[in-house]
Amino acid sequence: MAVGDMVVGLDLGTTKVCVVIAEVTAGDGRRVIGVGHTPSDGLRRGVVVDVQKTVQAISKAIHEAELMAGVNVRSVCTGITGEHINSLDSLGAIGVGGGIQEITVADRDRVIDAARAVAIPFDREVLHVMPQGFSVDDRRGIRDPVGMFGVRLETKVHIVTAAVTSVRNICKSVQRADIEVSDVVLESLASSRAVLGEEEREMGVCVVDVGGGTTDIAVFDQGSVRQTAVIGLGGQNVTSDIAICLRTGWPQAELIKCQHGVVREDAVQPGDKLEIPGISGRAPTSVGRTELAAIIEARMEEVFSLVLRELHRYPRTQSLGAGVVLTGGGCLIEGAAELAEQVLKMPVRVGVPTGCFSGLEDRLMDPAFSTAMGLVLMGVEELTGSARYDDLANPRYEDVAGRMKGWIEALF
Ligand SMILES: Nc1ncnc2c1ncn2[C@@H]1O[C@H](COP(=O)(O)OP(=O)(O)OP(=O)(O)O)[C@@H](O)[C@H]1O
Ligand SMILES: [Mg+2]
Repeated sequence: MAVGDMVVGLDLGTTKVCVVIAEVTAGDGRRVIGVGHTPSDGLRRGVVVDVQKTVQAISKAIHEAELMAGVNVRSVCTGITGEHINSLDSLGAIGVGGGIQEITVADRDRVIDAARAVAIPFDREVLHVMPQGFSVDDRRGIRDPVGMFGVRLETKVHIVTAAVTSVRNICKSVQRADIEVSDVVLESLASSRAVLGEEEREMGVCVVDVGGGTTDIAVFDQGSVRQTAVIGLGGQNVTSDIAICLRTGWPQAELIKCQHGVVREDAVQPGDKLEIPGISGRAPTSVGRTELAAIIEARMEEVFSLVLRELHRYPRTQSLGAGVVLTGGGCLIEGAAELAEQVLKMPVRVGVPTGCFSGLEDRLMDPAFSTAMGLVLMGVEELTGSARYDDLANPRYEDVAGRMKGWIEALF
């Protein structure tokens, strides 16, 4: 990849479509040169439900980013999420050859192939196959076995699959906006790339991206992805609870949430009142802020309880030394981190995409931009060859990109 080459990340969120264009600068640096951001109305809980509206939003966001950067976008690395995402762990083992042999890149690929050989239903596609470490004979916890001597090579991989129809709807929407899809990446992995430090990945950490329609989870331990999950609840559920309970319109409920919302009742002064506009010309009503906080707290507590349930599926949850990193627009609500700490019983910090690019505008240092920034960062690392072997940009991932071409060709 040469200086001046560019990479484009497209975050197809439930509430907004966001495009970030970055270019490679001298010394393997990277700089954001264009940003496009538009409300999205064609997705529900992370999944495309209206192709036409999605195409319009993609075209608008791309156009905005192109104008800012002064370039034409031809291909994008896009995110995917939704309750259709599944994941599983699988083991594989091979013999390294006759006698004691040096393990080669081909052996490493062969053992990953052996581990990924699981029956995948015809309506699902493999998105990512991520090695979680290798064993050579009886030595465990080896990150990359190439160059070591051994007889038997084993690995465990984390496999992420998606519904073929959801992937195709995303690819179709992007293609209809006259853009090619270079990669499709699980959104929680992209967000994690933007907000996590290397040390946190090693110590063990859970990233929780509270979006509008979904809450996406990714657990890292000893440097590798250990677990991924998607919960079909997010900030939009909080907004609709407010709209229903306080009998007001959706846009008003959204405004009230963002301007006056607090997650914990005890953080509000007793007696604080708010005027809630009535629906279709009805008279406004006066509501206590504690009542608003109680509505928000109930839903956010449900979200974090479901996160806890997912976390309990990972056997080493207690050893996640770096705790939890909250990101996504849904965590901007005041008191979200404190409630998460209380429910998850782990230290929680809010993660914003910083430090990955030079000249970052203030508006991008926002948890809602973590996915877009992560997508573009992963794209740059893939092209510059600076991605970690056990990250997404591994040789296995090229197979997925190849298959993705097949999906796209199948659309025409
Ligand atoms: N200041 C704020 N206070 C409270 N909530 C906020 C604030 N700003 C944004 N949100 C909420 O964040 C949510 C959107 O977050 P985000 O942009 O990460 O979602 P998305 O990427 O569009 O959706 P998803 O990832 O679920 O597909 C909305 O529900 C919005 O109400
Ligand atoms: Mg999102």
